[in-house]
Order: sequence, then structure tokens, then C-alpha cells
Amino acid sequence: MDRKEFFKRMGLMMAGAVAMNIDSKAQAMMALSEGEIPDIASEAKIKTKMPEMDAKLDKPVTVMVIGAGSRGRTYARYAEKFPGSMKVVGVADLNPNRRSAMAKKHGIPKENQFAHFNDALSGPKIADAVVISTPDNLHYEPCMKALALGYHVLLEKPVAPTEKECRDILKQARKYDRIVAVCHVLRYAPYFVALKQVLDSGAIGDIVSIQHMEPIQYAHMAHSYVRGNWPLADKTTPIILAKSCHDLDILRWLIGKPCQTIAAEGSLHLFRPENMPKGAPERCTDGCPHESECPYSAIDIYERRKRHLGVFDLPSKDPALIREKLKTTNYGRCVFRCNNDQCDHYVAIMKFEGDITASFTMDAFTPWGGRRTRIMGTKGFIEGDMKKFTYYDFRSGHKSVWDQKVSEIAEYKGSGHGGGDHLLARDFLRAVSAGDEKLLSSTIDVSIESHVMGFMAEKSRKSMKKVKI
Ligand SMILES: NC(=O)c1ccc[n+]([C@@H]2O[C@H](COP(=O)([O-])OP(=O)(O)OC[C@H]3O[C@@H](n4cnc5c(N)ncnc54)[C@H](O)[C@@H]3O)[C@@H](O)[C@H]2O)c1
Repeated sequence: MDRKEFFKRMGLMMAGAVAMNIDSKAQAMMALSEGEIPDIASEAKIKTKMPEMDAKLDKPVTVMVIGAGSRGRTYARYAEKFPGSMKVVGVADLNPNRRSAMAKKHGIPKENQFAHFNDALSGPKIADAVVISTPDNLHYEPCMKALALGYHVLLEKPVAPTEKECRDILKQARKYDRIVAVCHVLRYAPYFVALKQVLDSGAIGDIVSIQHMEPIQYAHMAHSYVRGNWPLADKTTPIILAKSCHDLDILRWLIGKPCQTIAAEGSLHLFRPENMPKGAPERCTDGCPHESECPYSAIDIYERRKRHLGVFDLPSKDPALIREKLKTTNYGRCVFRCNNDQCDHYVAIMKFEGDITASFTMDAFTPWGGRRTRIMGTKGFIEGDMKKFTYYDFRSGHKSVWDQKVSEIAEYKGSGHGGGDHLLARDFLRAVSAGDEKLLSSTIDVSIESHVMGFMAEKSRKSMKKVKI
């Protein structure tokens, strides 16, 4: 690169920096001799504007929630916070307590309360949109029906358990000219939005490779993929989609180019009957001799640490109430006796257009959840953990940090995934109100592309062959 080109490129970088408000007190370049380690003592902050959460619509978009469980309640909370932008006017859930709790909270009339989604979608249209937050294998049917009835759809991920069903939903959305937003909520989280802005500014040059990790966290793995809602790949979706379709989507989005090949490995290493310690009974509450040292003890996770209690719909955290649930539901079962088959470790390597490589690791055996990402560019490097990311510029040795405290913003409270849950809801409501799907980052067509990456990863893992996409 000649001097002119160099300054042209640096100018681009600085322009990017200014657009993102990188505090430039230490942007001065330093002359480094060969082999010298860049001085990263000089540090600046990258500040991005935190998006406002309220869609601020002239009139609220009306919504029926199909599946009033954990995710359905998350989106319905948006209506509680911003009633001028969203109103919940209908609910469907097989669970009468969940159904009536949502009906009460939102003043839903009796005639708009349904048990099965079929009942909700057999009559006339009662809202502008539906939220589909039923279990993974129950997305396809209600989504196809809702589109045919003229509803716009906020569709929980994964879209559907097979590639064909995903493509059918895309076709149906086009046929009825409706908006389908897939809940790839990470795309809307200010952390990932800022990361994407830095990449798009050209600050790290061209992306060459990415290492991305999804640490599931040991207790979360036991809760969701061993004892809980997603233990069997065939009955729900394989864990690469059930848990990690977000990550394939984020990789595709950050890189901004299509994935060409994928190769995957993974298995269920630990949670199998042959690994059960001697004498372990059916349930942790049955006097298990290993309870005091087993990290997966249900008594420890739910009763002592009070984690993941949302699934029990309890009126309080009273240990006696929790113990009763551990004695009567799958959440008290020994993790080695759960008849589960989801992988607890999974690795995929991908090649994207433009000679860009990426590796993805999903792992159950970590103390924390979230995401960890490293991005290698021709002029710089980024490392982040979903709370903070650090951008290093090779030539100047300068380091810039983004660490805005999303959790401290009052109007972001109640939205998980670093604010992404409700920012997605906001964009969906704006898109429906304006009749313009371009207001969304996760439209159905781009979401299906990353789902295909997941289906191909499974194909590769099972066939032990690299697969073309
Ligand atoms: N976007 C994300 O980050 C994210 C996170 C977690 C879960 N999810 C996805 O969201 C979906 C829901 O997950 P969840 O954790 O809320 O599960 P959940 O079990 O808490 O809620 C699902 C609800 O659907 C209801 N239901 C089941 N069958 C029904 C039917 N035939 N008609 C009406 N209601 C029915 C259940 O009674 C339950 O209340 C799943 O597909 C899951 O994979 C997405």
C-alpha cells in the first residue's frame, strides 16, 4: 500500500470513528518498530446512541399472544410499558393459569381467550398481529394459519423444525403479503448493533476470520436441554437451531456475506445413563448420596440458588413450594436419567464468501452464559463478551472500548438479551404500523438463510462430511 492509499484508508477509519463518537483523545498514531508490542495504555471509549424503546406510534398495534409462557410474557410486557404502541387483545395457551394471568393483566375479553391455537385461528381476525411463542414444533401450523387469516407475525425462533417448513412459511408470507419477524433478538441488542457499526466503518479493515462461542452455562444446560423443554432433538429441534440459530444468524449478519460451506462435530458427552454415579436415585430429592457435590443437583439449582424458577409459575420462592415441583416435574430428575439426546458440546467451522472463515463453539460446561466473540481483521482486532467489546488498531496500538451499561437504562428493564427482546418488539410494531418490513433487521428471508446453515451443520455432524450451502 502506498502512502496515499494508507492515508485514504486511515481517513476512512477515522471517519468511522467520528460517526460512532470514538473519544479521540488518544487517536494519535505511534511509530512502532518491527516486532514491538503496541502500546495499549492509551484507551478511548466508543459511545453509541442508545435507541429509545418506545415505538411511539399514533395508535397501538393490536396483538394476540399464542403461547403465554416465558417468551410470550416477555413480549406482552412491552405492551405494559408502552400501551400507546402495543395492546394485547387476545391470548391462546393450553395452560389455564397462564392464559387467565395474561388475560387479567391486559384486560382481554372472555371471547378472545383460547386454549389451543387452532381455536384462536379458526374464527375471524381479532388483531393486527400475532406473537407465536409456542414450543419449537408448534410454530409452523399456527404461523401458516395466521398468515392465511391476514395477521402479521412475530415468530419465535427457530422458525420451524425442517428446512421445507421454513421455506413454506416464507412462501406463505409472500403469498399473503404479510410481515414475519423472526425473534433473532441479538441483532437488536445495542452491543451487537455497536459491534456491527464498528465493522461496517471499516475500522478493522477486511474481516478475515471470526471465533464465536456460545457458553450455555452448566445449570442452564441441565435446565433446558436435559430436564426441561428441549431434551430431544427430534421432538423439538437440534440444539444448533434450538439454542444457536441466534449465533449462526449473528455470524452471517456481522460478516455480511453468504456462508458457502460448513462442517460440524458434536455429541452428548455427559448427561447419559452410563455416567450416572453409583446409587443415584430417580430424583435428586430421593436422598441421592451425591447431592452435596453434584453440580447438577436440582436442589442446589432451584431450591438453594433459586435459578430458573419462572417455569414453575409459583406465587413465591418458598422452598417448600419449590421442593414440591422437584418431586413432581421433570426438573427434579437426575440429569443422568432424563432420556435426552441433545449435544452438550458442538463445534462448527464455516467458510464465507470472500475467503472469510469462522468457527463456532457451543458449550454446556461453562460457569457463565452470554457470548464471546473475537474478530480478526486486516487492520485491527475486536474481542467482546456481550457486555463490553474492545477494538485494537494494529498500526497505532490504540485501544477503544464499548461498555455501555444497558442494564441501567430504566426503559430497558424487563427486556432480556441485552435489550434485544423489546427493541425487536419495537421494530416489529413500527414495521406493522407502517406496513414496511424493511424496518426490521430479522425479516423471514434472511432468517431462513441462517436456519439453513443450522440444518446443514446437523447434516455435516451426522454424515461426518463438510457440506456446501
Ligand atoms: N428468542 C429467544 O431468545 C428465545 C429464548 C427462549 C426460547 N425461545 C423460543 O420461544 C418458544 C417458546 O419458548 P418458552 O421458553 O416461552 O416456552 P414455554 O414453555 O415457557 O411457553 C410455551 C407456551 O406454549 C403453550 N402451548 C403449548 N402448546 C400449545 C397449543 N397447542 N396452543 C396454545 N398454547 C400452547 C404452553 O402451555 C406454554 O405456556 C420456543 O420455540 C423457544 O425455542 C426463544
